[in-house]
Amino acid sequence: MSSEINLRQRGRAMMDFEVSARQKATAINRVVERELADHGITAESLPDDMDARHAAIDTALAGSVAYRWKHMLGDYCSAEHGRAAVAAFEEARVDLMPIIAQQNQGAVTIDYRPGFEPPAYFARTWFHRTEGGWDGHPQNGFIHGEIVHRKYVSRVFPGDIYGNRRAVARLAPRTDYKDILELGTSSGHYTVALSEVFPDARITGLDPSPRMLEQAARVGNALDKDWHLIVGIGEDTGLPDESFDLVTSYAVHHEIPPKAIEAMFAEAFRVLRPGGTVLMADVGRYRDLDKLTAWRFDWTARYGGEPFWRATATLDFVPLAEKAGFVDITAGSMQNGDKYYYIRGSKPA
Ligand SMILES: C[S@@+](CC[C@H](N)C(=O)[O-])C[C@H]1O[C@@H](n2cnc3c(N)ncnc32)[C@H](O)[C@@H]1O
Repeated sequence: MSSEINLRQRGRAMMDFEVSARQKATAINRVVERELADHGITAESLPDDMDARHAAIDTALAGSVAYRWKHMLGDYCSAEHGRAAVAAFEEARVDLMPIIAQQNQGAVTIDYRPGFEPPAYFARTWFHRTEGGWDGHPQNGFIHGEIVHRKYVSRVFPGDIYGNRRAVARLAPRTDYKDILELGTSSGHYTVALSEVFPDARITGLDPSPRMLEQAARVGNALDKDWHLIVGIGEDTGLPDESFDLVTSYAVHHEIPPKAIEAMFAEAFRVLRPGGTVLMADVGRYRDLDKLTAWRFDWTARYGGEPFWRATATLDFVPLAEKAGFVDITAGSMQNGDKYYYIRGSKPA
């Protein structure tokens, strides 16, 4: 969206407070890191097993005030920024609803698939500690995209959110894709990158969350796109055999259990035309990270409402892609410090 929406005074103050709390958590993390070093804890000294690694650090820092604050703020920031965003939205509702109605106008379509039931793991998880889950509020897409993202995440983590997504899209071996299927579209960040890298392709985006797809539609409308969005799941899309030539996802695997990831590769194979490409990227593999960095990721996932993160970050995707039938598989770390992992392969021609 081109310009930021205005909140009312209390909502603005609440979001500013959440940003300050998160920035304070970053400062406290630096103290904890110094204390770890003072205790002689290094990547090399930590145990291989992740639970044992947590236990070793918990024991070493048992008397640390900063470590207690790290836990308190980790918990507070994860749970509260979403609640603050909902309250800020409700305070400004009369100003914001007309903006939503206006942003809904455009060429992007949503197929809601009446009767669609999300899988149990999705329905019972409040990802990112978002109250009620991704669909917990009727305007959660707008709240997530316009308030959480623009007034919290982008201030806590400034930078180009599309940069890494564009870099992933450019890992595709071809540029002439006609039909692209994106699994886990959410509010459309990777969709924007796909549109930039493959401007002539027809893009279909799929996600179990109608509320997030509604935000993706608004993002696409603002860019004058004609994306086709569908409510559904990557492991069982309901789309016809051999109807796409690129199936791709960004940051989706860590929100689903390993069995569903396996099914997602098989489903990608089914809907791809012969010679088509699968390209998926997600959080870094723990084995590619040093043990302290992996512990930091795991700690964040523990408070961040990410029940499947560790299982995903320790799963080997290559055998799953092979089992689905893909060939010419390459997998590895992105260049930005191993924090992102990608896998790509082809359906035999
Ligand atoms: C962290 S968001 C990532 C979004 C997006 N691709 C991006 O680049 O920002 C993960 C998304 O995956 C969706 N998701 C969860 N389970 C899924 C499934 N089984 N199939 C497809 N998408 C799923 C969630 O609803 C959520 O919108």
